[in-house]
Amino acid sequence: MWWQSAVIYQVYPRSFADANGDGIGDLEGVRSKLGYLRDLGVDAIWLSPFYRSPMIDGGYDVSDHRAVDPMFGTLSDLDGLIADARAHGLRVIVDLVPNHYSTEHPWFVDALAAGPGSPARERFHFRPGDGPPNDWQSIFGGPAWTQVPDGEWYLHLFDSSQPDLNWQNPEVHAEFEAILRFWLDRGVDGFRVDVAHGLVKAAGLPDLGTERTHMFDTSGTPYFDQDGVHEIYRAWRKILDSYPGDRMAVAEAWVPSPERVARYVRPDELHQAFNFDYLTAPLRAADLRRVIDASLAACATVGAPPTWVLGNHDTVRPVTRYGSLGRARAAALLMLALPGSAYVHQGEELGLPEVDLPVEVRRDPALARSGHSRDGCRVPLPWSGAAAPYGFGGAPTWLPQPDAWAGLSVEAQTGDPESTVELYRAALRIRRSSWAGSGALRWLDPPAPEVLAFTREPGLVCVANLGSEPMTLDGRPILASGPLNDDGTLPPDTTAWLAV
Ligand code: NOJ
Ligand code: CA
Repeated sequence: MWWQSAVIYQVYPRSFADANGDGIGDLEGVRSKLGYLRDLGVDAIWLSPFYRSPMIDGGYDVSDHRAVDPMFGTLSDLDGLIADARAHGLRVIVDLVPNHYSTEHPWFVDALAAGPGSPARERFHFRPGDGPPNDWQSIFGGPAWTQVPDGEWYLHLFDSSQPDLNWQNPEVHAEFEAILRFWLDRGVDGFRVDVAHGLVKAAGLPDLGTERTHMFDTSGTPYFDQDGVHEIYRAWRKILDSYPGDRMAVAEAWVPSPERVARYVRPDELHQAFNFDYLTAPLRAADLRRVIDASLAACATVGAPPTWVLGNHDTVRPVTRYGSLGRARAAALLMLALPGSAYVHQGEELGLPEVDLPVEVRRDPALARSGHSRDGCRVPLPWSGAAAPYGFGGAPTWLPQPDAWAGLSVEAQTGDPESTVELYRAALRIRRSSWAGSGALRWLDPPAPEVLAFTREPGLVCVANLGSEPMTLDGRPILASGPLNDDGTLPPDTTAWLAV
C-alpha cells in the first residue's frame, strides 16, 4: 500500500503559495506548485485545514466542514487541485477536525439560541453552575470552560472559540461519518485526524485533580486517550475500507508511550499515527535509538508501519530546535533512512529556521492564553527573488518574512548541490529508487557511543555521527548531509548514506 513507505509533505495552505495576491496562501497557490512537489520527490501531500473558518486557530476552528473558506478558494479549486495532484502522481490527504467546531458553526449558534436542556446543546458539553464545572485547563492555557449569557458553561480543550463536540451523542458520529464520505467521494486519499486522542471524555467529566495543560503530557487525564475513541476509529475504518484505492488515516495522538500510540493503529483502526516521541527526542544517539527501537517494536505488535516526523505547524522548526542547519540536515537524512513513512513539514526541505516574530504580528490564540505562540514555524515560504514576499504572492504576507530569507528561497537553492533542497531531492530520489521502505533495519555496532549506524535491506547503510569527533567511514557515501573532511572522515553532526 502506498502509505506504508510514503513521504508525506505537509502543506499549511495559508503559508505555502498565494495565487491571488492577497498575501495569504490559497489552493490555487498549492496547485501552481505541484510540479515542485513532484520534482522534490514526495509521494503525497497533507493539506492542513482549508475549511470555512473564522481562522482564530488557523482553520482548526471549523465552521463548515464541507466548505472551502473563501480565503483559500472554492470547492472547484480543490477538485482541480486533487485532479492535478493525481496527474502529478501525488496523493492528497486532508485534515479532519472532529474534536471541536468553531463557535461560528451553525450547530453552536443553534445551541446557544436553543438554551439549556435543548437537544442542540447535547451536541456539545454544556453544564450549569456558578463556576467552571470541573478543574480542566485548556491546552492553550486558562480554564477549559466558558460561560454563556444564560449561565451555562461549555467545554473547550483549546481556545474558547473551539467548543468540544459531545461524542456521546450519536448525531455527532453520524455527522462525521457523513463528512468522511463527503471528502472520500471527492477523491481524497485520506485524512489526518486532529486531536485523535481527545474525542471521548471520561463519563461524568471528573476533575483532573492537578493543573496540567500541556498537549504532550496526557497520561491519566480524563479527557485524552480514553478507550472510547477506538470505537470511533473502528467505525471509520470500515468506511475507509469501503472505498476503492487504499484510503488511509493518520492519527494526531499525543499519548504517553509507543504502546499507547499503537492502539490507534490496530488492524481495524487507523492506518498510521504520528511519532511524536521521535519529534521530541533530543538529537542524541542513545535517545534516538531508544525511540526508534520502541517505535518499531510497538508498531510490530499491531502490524502497522512506523512513521517519523521532525516538525509540523505546532512545533519549533528543526533547524532552531536542534541548534543548527547542519544538525537539522543530519536529522533529516537519518529520518529518511528509517523504515516506514516520513512526514515533512513545508519549508523543512529549505532549511527554514523558526522566525522570531514581534509580538504584535503574532496570530496564534495560544499566545494570549499561555504566552507561547506557534507562529514562528508558520511564516510564508520563500520561493524566489531577493526581497519579501520572495515570490510567495502578494505583499504584505499575513506573517512577515525575515529579510535574511533571500538565500533560502527555492530559486536560490535549486541547482546548488550543497543546498538543503537538493539534499532532500537527492535523498528522496535514492529512497524511491533502490530501497523504498520495506527493508528491515539492522543496527550495526557503532564505532563510538554518539554514532548511530544501521543497514536497510537490500543495500543501504546509514551512519549518523552525532558526537564531537570525526569518524572513519567504511566506504564512500552516495549521499551525505554535509561535506566530508579532506581525509574522507565524517564530521560531527553529519549523516551519510553508503551503498553496500
Ligand atoms: C492540533 C493542531 O495541529 C493544532 O494546530 C491545533 O491548534 C489543535 N490541534 C486544535 O485543533
Ligand atoms: Ca491568496
